[in-house]
Amino acid sequence: MAIKHQYDVLIIGSGAAGLTLALHLADQGKIAVLSKGDLKSGSTWLAQGGIAAVLDESDSEQKHREDTMIAGSWLSHEDAVDFTVSHGQESIQWLINQGVPFTEQEGQHHLTKEGGHSHRRIIHAADATGKAVQRTLIEKAAAHPNIDLFERYTAVDLVTRTKLRLPGNRCIGAYALNGNDGHVEAFYAKGVVLATGGASKTYLYTSNPDGSTGDGIAMAWRAGCRVANLEFNQFHPTCLYHPQAKSFLITEAVRGEGGKLLLPDGKRFMDRFDDRGELAPRDIVARAIDHEMKRLGSDCLFLDISHKPAEFIQSHFPTIYKRCMKLGIDITKEPIPVVPAAHYTCGGVMTDEHGQTDLSGLYAVGETAFTGLHGANRLASNSLLECLVYARSAATHIAAELEKPLESVTIPDWDESQVTDSDEDVIISHNWDELRRFMWDYVGIVRTNKRLQRAKHRVDLLLQEISEYYSNYKISKDLLELRNLAVVSDLIIRSAMLRQESRGLNYTLDYPDEAPEALDTILTPVNYQWQSQR
Ligand code: FAD
Ligand code: SIN
Repeated sequence: MAIKHQYDVLIIGSGAAGLTLALHLADQGKIAVLSKGDLKSGSTWLAQGGIAAVLDESDSEQKHREDTMIAGSWLSHEDAVDFTVSHGQESIQWLINQGVPFTEQEGQHHLTKEGGHSHRRIIHAADATGKAVQRTLIEKAAAHPNIDLFERYTAVDLVTRTKLRLPGNRCIGAYALNGNDGHVEAFYAKGVVLATGGASKTYLYTSNPDGSTGDGIAMAWRAGCRVANLEFNQFHPTCLYHPQAKSFLITEAVRGEGGKLLLPDGKRFMDRFDDRGELAPRDIVARAIDHEMKRLGSDCLFLDISHKPAEFIQSHFPTIYKRCMKLGIDITKEPIPVVPAAHYTCGGVMTDEHGQTDLSGLYAVGETAFTGLHGANRLASNSLLECLVYARSAATHIAAELEKPLESVTIPDWDESQVTDSDEDVIISHNWDELRRFMWDYVGIVRTNKRLQRAKHRVDLLLQEISEYYSNYKISKDLLELRNLAVVSDLIIRSAMLRQESRGLNYTLDYPDEAPEALDTILTPVNYQWQSQR
């Protein structure tokens, strides 16, 4: 008999979104939090710049709203922007109450600036904000008697009443692969939350950790939920370019504090692309860098903050200073080699203000969700804010659901009777590399119809091959991630094909202009062939 768990709420993901939700709900019921790696394995731990919120008297919510709408190329939903911005201050106060040690200066929290912001409004913990936030949340969650934390548990798929051939569809749990012993266990819960982060690992070069494989988006899609705006993949303009530095970000706050982007000959160039120069929104800066690198045939460009006093650099950017120093780059004296890399998934599983998806009992929060906030390009540091605001709002909604009695449904054991051990794991690693390379080459910063068609052709072949493999062999974490990456890549390509305009992060040479009307790209999983085999 396989192990079966029963909880009030199952939260898949232990980043800022998942843990915030768990802490808000923990006094109302028993909560399970799964993480497919250790608890720090998501993007939250790596967040550098900080969290955007209106915290200064001379700033205003109206300005934060406007900046969000402008960065998002007017595709952001006004209600989502209002909701997020107006809950900013209380969300930050909640983190302060939990004990997050934000940087202070002269007795006040220091606020930094980032691209697209008209005001200093980024609260931060030096250049390692994510660590400070997540460390605090993990400590609080681990100490709460109602929260059980499951490390190295990879959710495989959601369990719904329809899948069990029961009337009245609803999400009632999930299967998860226990990476500690290789067995699949069932989790039954009144409410299930996807807080699995983004899907930037679909691209060859990314600032994200290994786990950003879009698992929540793929699981929700397979369970029948709509997804939106997946063509808007944000590329961060400045990741460190060095053979020994895999995926290391150089925070936008470096530009916020005066960092200049330079060509290999030391000349500045951003003013040729946008009046806001280095502090233009991310889509514009990443495209400008990509353009200049291609024009000059250069492997990277440079970011220079060395004109600032060494002490200022070391105290504001200690993580970056130390990491670069280890690689032989003294950022107080010389420019940093940088390239753009995939950074953030602006689209996701469609949700309402409470994180509710199309499927009753299923919620999505954080980077996995599409709330309408980010439009065609996320404003810097609005992501952690979104995690906090929506996790809290989802908690309130789920709490009301917990008053209902638990149904007596038995989730069947995971069926492994038709599968054998894999004999050719090389297929997984080969397909993984191939997928991420063609996504980078054909579905990257600059797109064309032809490139998208090429990518679609390749992803169709991969989906078929992976589907056969999945039906015949025992599952592993790598196989599950590859399967999800392929599903999400397909959704990205199809969304990009549907968007026949250039807006925000979706720039295509075939439709260089913005369409008169700003519309979302919504995909509905009707008659979609790629379905779970089990
Ligand atoms: P994550 O923090 O990514 O957590 C995802 C969790 O889901 C992990 O615990 C993972 O193990 C788990 N998981 C995934 N799939 C499964 C599965 N199948 N089964 C079980 N568990 C699963 N945003 C800002 O606002 N400000 C910043 O300064 C900032 N800096 C950033 C710097 C970097 C380098 C990166 C990569 C991102 C940055 N972002 C920043 C973006 C922001 O950090 C993320 O969008 C945010 O942290 C996402 O939080 P999350 O809780 O949704 O997901
Ligand atoms: C950064 O620090 O540049 C990342 C901020 C973000 O992704 O919002």
